[in-house]
Amino acid sequence: MKSIVILTGAGISAESGLKTFRDSNGLWEGHRPEEVATPEAFAANPDMVHRFYNQRRAQLSEVEPNAAHLALADLEKSLGDDFLLVTQNVDNLHERAGNTRVLHMHGELGKMRCALCSVTSPCTTDLATTDVCESCDRPGGLRPDIVWFGEMPYHLDRIYEALEAADLFIAIGTSGVVYPAAQFVSHARQHRARTVEINLEAAANSDIFDESILGPATEKVPIYVERVLTALGK
Ligand code: OAD
Repeated sequence: MKSIVILTGAGISAESGLKTFRDSNGLWEGHRPEEVATPEAFAANPDMVHRFYNQRRAQLSEVEPNAAHLALADLEKSLGDDFLLVTQNVDNLHERAGNTRVLHMHGELGKMRCALCSVTSPCTTDLATTDVCESCDRPGGLRPDIVWFGEMPYHLDRIYEALEAADLFIAIGTSGVVYPAAQFVSHARQHRARTVEINLEAAANSDIFDESILGPATEKVPIYVERVLTALGK
């Protein structure tokens, strides 16, 4: 085994204190996803959408990476360029745990994008509809750099290339219902990777994986990483 691609979802950050999307009656922090995570919602009620993501961004300072994030940082240290972490999460816990080879396919709370000039920049404070873009000097265009429903995820070319070269694909804490991420396991399998799911309960696409490890990420991920490192003689 040489190359490993990992896909993470909200479940890996759950034990750090960040709510997952689908665990509380389909509500995300009290909202239906289409109320806050679509371009239509932003067009109809930008103040509400800004408020929602401002709260999510502020929450990042109250949480810490957990044992699962830290185990993946150890794995990257051992594997170097043979490691790629693809995350659907918009939090920054992987980076804060020490991972550097991370692709945020659904964007990041720590970035903003101007819809008027398309320039992306770091975002560390609250966003408001009156904010002026530093690049084009116009107000009203700044939005969280989050991929909303109906928008194209980021980095797909690099992700598919890595899946095709992977020997091992591991999905952690993701429900397997949001595409295209839910289909990465099939793509990796078609290109001969071994596929492993680590999740609290079986994901919607669980049947496709070679191995399914059920339990909390903070418990199961460190054990599995240890197993991989031992198999690699590291
Ligand atoms: P979901 O909320 O859909 O699923 C979270 C998964 O994590 C579930 O399968 C849970 O069983 C599992 N889980 C919960 N706690 C866990 C724990 N302690 N250890 C291990 N697993 C645990 O989140 P995602 O699959 O990430 O997209 O959702 C995918 C996308 O849908 C998100 O990126 C977001 C959302 O709409 C956008 O915002 C574009």
